[in-house]
Amino acid sequence: MNSTEAKKPSKKTPNDFLFGKVIGEGSYSTVYLAKEISTGKEFAIKVLEKKHIMRERKTQYVMREKEVLMKLNHQFFIRLYYTFQDADRLYFVLSYARNGELLDFLHKVSSFDEECSRFYTAEIVSALEYLHGHGIIHRDLKPENILLSDEMHIQITDFGSAKILKKGDNLKEGESPESGQPTRKNSFVGTAHYVSPEVLTSKNAYYSSDLWALGCILYQLLSGEPPFRGSHEYQIFQKITKLEYEFPDGFKPVARDLVEKLLVLDPTKRLGCEEMGGYGPLKAHKYFEGIKWETLGEKKPPDII
Ligand code: ADE
Repeated sequence: MNSTEAKKPSKKTPNDFLFGKVIGEGSYSTVYLAKEISTGKEFAIKVLEKKHIMRERKTQYVMREKEVLMKLNHQFFIRLYYTFQDADRLYFVLSYARNGELLDFLHKVSSFDEECSRFYTAEIVSALEYLHGHGIIHRDLKPENILLSDEMHIQITDFGSAKILKKGDNLKEGESPESGQPTRKNSFVGTAHYVSPEVLTSKNAYYSSDLWALGCILYQLLSGEPPFRGSHEYQIFQKITKLEYEFPDGFKPVARDLVEKLLVLDPTKRLGCEEMGGYGPLKAHKYFEGIKWETLGEKKPPDII
């Protein structure tokens, strides 16, 4: 090799890491805390069994997740550092979000105060602006998928259900965003409490399907519970499609106004969506008064108490 050629780093292997405890488990993967031996750096390594993925026909979801993670370069998202494989498994080396799930913090304190809710909702809005600006819909946004870094900033994870819109994909009512792709008819995407009405009724996801989930999350941060509840998925789905939910006593009017502008049945009428003028009007909502959008990620987050 001559001196002008860049030396490509050689592929990592499982032997480059010391595997520790399990920190996450999904239907198709296990996430381990691991230490890179050469640097002492900690990572979260997602391990997927090839046989299991093939048997369950999940290959396209795994490829999608890798493709999305490779596109993202923003502090509010988990980063993908390396990928490698052995005969039986695939490995995704990810940033380790030391403080775990936003959901666990919410359960600890029951509900967030005004300042915490505003701050974390603003971080999620800022993350969605970046994500949608890169043509990606998350499709399974929920407090379990919002992890927290050492400094308690959000790190959104789990892009197994995500959708990448190619340039020119113009999602209008009645058009299938899945066209040209292997069909996923009737294969449910998203988690019951946060799934949008259009995903339930037409199986179509829009950027604003993530804004629906944002509305559910904001309601949950302030009240402790998601807006659409029930003992069975079917009951939850019925409430979602009928927009059947109530605000508890004491829910502040400006927060209520924002939730009501996000939980709108028509995906083209949600604050933040393209048809409503994009992220400008959402970030300008009175609920976010005082938020400094440009420096959110540098600000010390308010204590969760
Ligand atoms: N659980 C699942 N993924 C994780 C990650 N990247 N960091 C911390 N905990 C996790």
